[in-house]
Amino acid sequence: MILKGKKGIIFGALNDMSIAWKVAELCVAEGAEIVLTNAPVAFRMKGDSNIKTLAEKLNCPAIPADATRIEDLEKLIDESMAHFGGKIDFVLHSIGMSINIRKDKPYTDLNHDFMLKSFDISSISFHKLMQSLWKKEAVNDWGSILALTYIGAQRIFPHYSEMAEAKSMLESFARSFGYHFGERNNIRVNTISQSPTMTTAGTGIEGFQEFLDYAENMSPIGNAPAQACAEYCISLFSDYTRYVTMQNLYHDGGFSNMGMNPAILNK
Ligand SMILES: NC(=O)c1ccc[n+]([C@@H]2O[C@H](COP(=O)([O-])OP(=O)(O)OC[C@H]3O[C@@H](n4cnc5c(N)ncnc54)[C@H](O)[C@@H]3O)[C@@H](O)[C@H]2O)c1
Repeated sequence: MILKGKKGIIFGALNDMSIAWKVAELCVAEGAEIVLTNAPVAFRMKGDSNIKTLAEKLNCPAIPADATRIEDLEKLIDESMAHFGGKIDFVLHSIGMSINIRKDKPYTDLNHDFMLKSFDISSISFHKLMQSLWKKEAVNDWGSILALTYIGAQRIFPHYSEMAEAKSMLESFARSFGYHFGERNNIRVNTISQSPTMTTAGTGIEGFQEFLDYAENMSPIGNAPAQACAEYCISLFSDYTRYVTMQNLYHDGGFSNMGMNPAILNK
């Protein structure tokens, strides 16, 4: 129960494959109270596995908010604080989408209006969220703000396209706002750089299975599954990591420090 008494907002649980879904389940299992949120369209998803079924299962509110809209974020924060009867201890930003990838545009022929929208959803939303939390002084001292990212921000993975730039920006926002939150409230801001993971966002990338297999073979411990990512997130919301801030933390079975693995040459 390492999150006993803590209160948090979890963005990005779309279905039971979502990393945020596993984080939400584990938060509650570890004693936290949570509010779930996602874009309004996610609330219209049919089937057994959607944000509404998760909210019922975990007995928590689910509040629609488009993370690119400040009005939605402010309303979400106000309603969450009213629900908790006080401030928030942790927030997970688990949001990513590339319009150019969705539309199959090659990197050498990107549509820049789509690119701006992709950056707004995948990165600027993180700044908008943190700025809204900052202005409302909504996070308790020693709280934790976390976003999910990918090593495509540092290295070239050609099919990752404009998401490389989106994730670089996201990681930079974590460092920059981490300074301000740290100075004012001892609040930490980090990003977790996760292995490729079979989710709706992941599978939108061309050749994703090959990509996943390559990373699996390259990493000494293998790809980190979504459940293990959730466990790492929980540790960063807990009081055991209070001095970890402004970091991009690799959670990838060792992939990021590999140069060559004979396991791949042998194949
Ligand atoms: N799957 C992977 O291989 C992988 C690897 C590293 C990092 N990540 C990152 O993990 C995070 C979660 O992705 P996932 O893999 O669980 O996939 P996912 O598709 O389950 O989650 C992406 C979420 O973003 C939400 N979203 C999109 N537009 C939004 C908006 N305007 N407002 C609010 N929410 C919006 C979607 O509804 C969805 O819930 C993303 O940041 C992703 O880039 C994923």
